[in-house]
Amino acid sequence: MKSKADYGLDAPLVVRRLALGGLALLCAGIVLCILPATSQIGWLRPWALRGITASIGCLATAGVMFWGSKVGKLRLRDRLLATFSWRGDERVLDVGCGHGLMLIGAARQLTTGQAIGIDLWKKEDQAGNSADATRENLRREGVAERVELRDCDARALPFEDGIFDVVLSSWALHNIYEPAGRAQAVREICRVLKPGGRVALTDIRHASEYARELRLASMGNVRRSWPNFIFVTPTVTVFAEKPPAP
Ligand SMILES: C[S@@+](CC[C@H](N)C(=O)[O-])C[C@H]1O[C@@H](n2cnc3c(N)ncnc32)[C@H](O)[C@@H]1O
Repeated sequence: MKSKADYGLDAPLVVRRLALGGLALLCAGIVLCILPATSQIGWLRPWALRGITASIGCLATAGVMFWGSKVGKLRLRDRLLATFSWRGDERVLDVGCGHGLMLIGAARQLTTGQAIGIDLWKKEDQAGNSADATRENLRREGVAERVELRDCDARALPFEDGIFDVVLSSWALHNIYEPAGRAQAVREICRVLKPGGRVALTDIRHASEYARELRLASMGNVRRSWPNFIFVTPTVTVFAEKPPAP
């Protein structure tokens, strides 16, 4: 589906360091190649090829990560949301929504339902991250009237128990660096999910940890997707369902 929204650049510092480091290595490698072997630093010439090879690795990784943020994750989002059978009246929560990738994708499926995105809007996790940038994306995608944004931490969701039909989270929970914090966030997600509700946690790390926490929280049908390499490091989605009320 074509998008008018800008979903930002993930891990901007990593992409910038890889691109600048790659360019520096490429320049150094080229200079070493063209230097006469008799010059003062001519003894470094055997390193030229290694520098150029490393630069290609850095630049290619930066390129793939840029493509992942701009194209790959939209495709992955659309494929993932298409696996849900939507009624249109669901209440959906996107945990760590950033610029609103999953939030907007889910909101497009709703008619009478509502989607809520929560985030701390950390700029080191996504370039230009802010509630205002996400609000602009909601407006551009024509879903603003059925979406609400809240400033809050995934580890302490300000919602009652059992009120969401679907909880989504994409590339957000690994940004909580302590395992206890990630476990707390998964428990919070399970708490706010309705009996019979569904969860999908997409991330580049910690899939086994999320699956374990979901099982510990008595979630059913816990399963993992095949890995996807849009951010080089494998992205895996962990799905689960809360058992229906007895
Ligand atoms: C890489 S971005 C991904 C954003 C969005 N889900 C996407 O797929 O484009 C990670 C997001 O997680 C948010 N985040 C990090 N730690 C958080 C926390 N403890 N609670 C809520 N959001 C958090 C960041 O502010 C950022 O918006």
